[in-house]
Amino acid sequence: MKRYNVAVVGATGLVGRTMMRVLEERNFPVDQLLPLASERSVGKEVLFHGKKIPVRKLEADSFNNIQIALFSAGASVSKEFAPHAVEAGTVVIDNSSAFRMDANVPLVVPEVNRAQVFAHHGIIANPNCSTIQMVVVLKPLHDRFRIKRVVVSTYQSVTGAGQRAVSQLEDELAKRPLREKKFPHPIAFNCLPHIDVFFDDGYTKEEVKMKQETVKILGEMIAVTATTVRVPVMGGHSESVNIEFEKSCSVKEVRDILKSAPGVVVQDDPANNVYPMPINAFDKDDVFVGRIRMDETIPHGINLWIVSDNIRKGAATNAVQIAEALIANS
Ligand SMILES: NC(=O)c1ccc[n+]([C@@H]2O[C@H](COP(=O)([O-])OP(=O)(O)OC[C@H]3O[C@@H](n4cnc5c(N)ncnc54)[C@H](OP(=O)(O)O)[C@@H]3O)[C@@H](O)[C@H]2O)c1
Repeated sequence: MKRYNVAVVGATGLVGRTMMRVLEERNFPVDQLLPLASERSVGKEVLFHGKKIPVRKLEADSFNNIQIALFSAGASVSKEFAPHAVEAGTVVIDNSSAFRMDANVPLVVPEVNRAQVFAHHGIIANPNCSTIQMVVVLKPLHDRFRIKRVVVSTYQSVTGAGQRAVSQLEDELAKRPLREKKFPHPIAFNCLPHIDVFFDDGYTKEEVKMKQETVKILGEMIAVTATTVRVPVMGGHSESVNIEFEKSCSVKEVRDILKSAPGVVVQDDPANNVYPMPINAFDKDDVFVGRIRMDETIPHGINLWIVSDNIRKGAATNAVQIAEALIANS
């Protein structure tokens, strides 16, 4: 089997560390692993398949003889260094928002638009975590009932905001001085209707990402409106999703379609208190859906509750699945 030299940019971060675990778990054919991070991490080591590998400082010439680079060190790092990787002949799979809406960059969720990986010009973008888990569920329903409009409200884990956010919540819960302050307000025992920056129209960048990325991935002009909220949950994003279809549907039909949809697990037995929860989705790769019910206020509408681990399917696992799709025919 052909093996690949793989760089992980942001290897010391929440997503980067999980990317290496997922590469291991899925037995991705890695020949050499190159963990890259900032100067702060030089001297650290990562463990990969039982072997200690030193973390190197990310530099413009880091990508010689690297076939695939998984980037998860933020948009500014991607903007500066991904072009150097592409120049060296590396295919970049980028977790940041840097290139997602670039017309030359495919935005891929393998369960939804896997074939798009082959349309790349050196960079393939991994969508936003909240978008990924939603489109995995929307796609099979859209194919059957044609979606007109989606209203989504998110309940997003602090892990979605990186290591500093996790520290803030841990310190607030332990009632000790903060090592890091990621959020403008306390996050313990609180909800912040504020993820990423605000635009002049009152929406946040996270809300705009969900709208634009959903349209790009599904390739259809579906109307999406979002309210994104940070909640004091340690791992796993939840979403309340209201969908209006063109065609009529029933709860049974929706449930049956989702039961056979790739990457989706239906957990929908309210009589026995069975519904998706982040505590159960944590560290899993699937997208969990439940609370499936009709919306009687519109002609063809349903409400759903969707939960997934934002670090895994929302980031690391999706990126590795893209890499798997990329090498599948080689
Ligand atoms: N968390 C999520 O749910 C999620 C989901 C989807 C996408 N993402 C995206 O993934 C990226 C990383 O998220 P995260 O949660 O893993 O953040 P994180 O825990 O804060 O980790 C950030 C990583 O980036 C590295 N880094 C920062 N500045 C760097 C520089 N100048 N040069 C090289 N490396 C640098 C850090 O290295 P040092 O340790 O050396 O500082 C660290 O490895 C972000 O773009 C985020 O938007 C996150």
